[in-house]
Amino acid sequence: MEKVKVVAPATLSNLGSGFDVFGMALAEPFDHIEARKTSEPGVTIEAIEGWGAEGITTDATLNSAGVAAAEVLKKCEADFGIALTIKKGFRPGSGIGSSGASAAGGAVAANILAGKQLTPRDVVVCAAESERVTSGSFHADNVGPCVLGGFSVIRSYEPLEIKRVQPPKNLGIVIVMPSFTVKTLDARAVIPQQVALHDMIYEVGNAASLVLGMCYEDIELIGKSMSDVVIEPARAKLNPGLNEAKEAAIEAGAAGAFLGGSGPCVIAAYDLTYVDGQTILEAMLGSYERAKIAIDKTWITTWGEGCRSL
Ligand code: HSE
Repeated sequence: MEKVKVVAPATLSNLGSGFDVFGMALAEPFDHIEARKTSEPGVTIEAIEGWGAEGITTDATLNSAGVAAAEVLKKCEADFGIALTIKKGFRPGSGIGSSGASAAGGAVAANILAGKQLTPRDVVVCAAESERVTSGSFHADNVGPCVLGGFSVIRSYEPLEIKRVQPPKNLGIVIVMPSFTVKTLDARAVIPQQVALHDMIYEVGNAASLVLGMCYEDIELIGKSMSDVVIEPARAKLNPGLNEAKEAAIEAGAAGAFLGGSGPCVIAAYDLTYVDGQTILEAMLGSYERAKIAIDKTWITTWGEGCRSL
């Protein structure tokens, strides 16, 4: 194969209680990554288009998709290079895995051109290396589900062990994206390095219950377990309107609500059999309006599959 087009979905990370551990692929929005083989070794970025493209580097050694594709080529000892075109479907600094989607898409496209030599788990490792370069930390909770689809749990980082779990069909997701941006690097600088024992007990109880909720298809349990007393409170100062938007979502019928990754997106989860996503969305928008915080974009969506070629 000489060229390939890959769709790379946005992803939710943390889901409240699972900081750096939980992630979920979304049905929308997504990036498109086009990759073609070149006889010159190495990776080049031919073009970046779409939402926020003007702020994204075309230096392949610093670009999410470029770094991830180069990691794959190195692991496969490829004797060819890759030229990438990136079409952004959602902006960087969103909290729904913008850099992760480009990284995962770049890694998956490179692996397809290399004859699928790497396992999905190794593709995730290559994409997570890219997150290290672009956000300063090796975290796989966006790139993991972006490659694997569905909901994922990272059991271990050293070595990386990641499990995919099928979420319930009726899990609805509302996303509200305020117009300000938050850099993951900055959001990671404000989180505590020590956790009190009672907070650890709270987080483990909720995280374990959230996974049970996925397995039992119990959306009420999933939503209730999206509760976090360590990371989100520390990040609230970077995300004005967060607590009010979460409260508004729950009052309007959401099962749970949380900060998307490092922010600023706020996410509500609900049972789409019984609750109207539009009602939740309007309640969240009302809370931002009262706080005089502008909104860039909203989605009413659900979970989805991972990167796939077109
Ligand atoms: N788990 C990461 C964080 C995701 O919250 O910092 C960043 O997108």
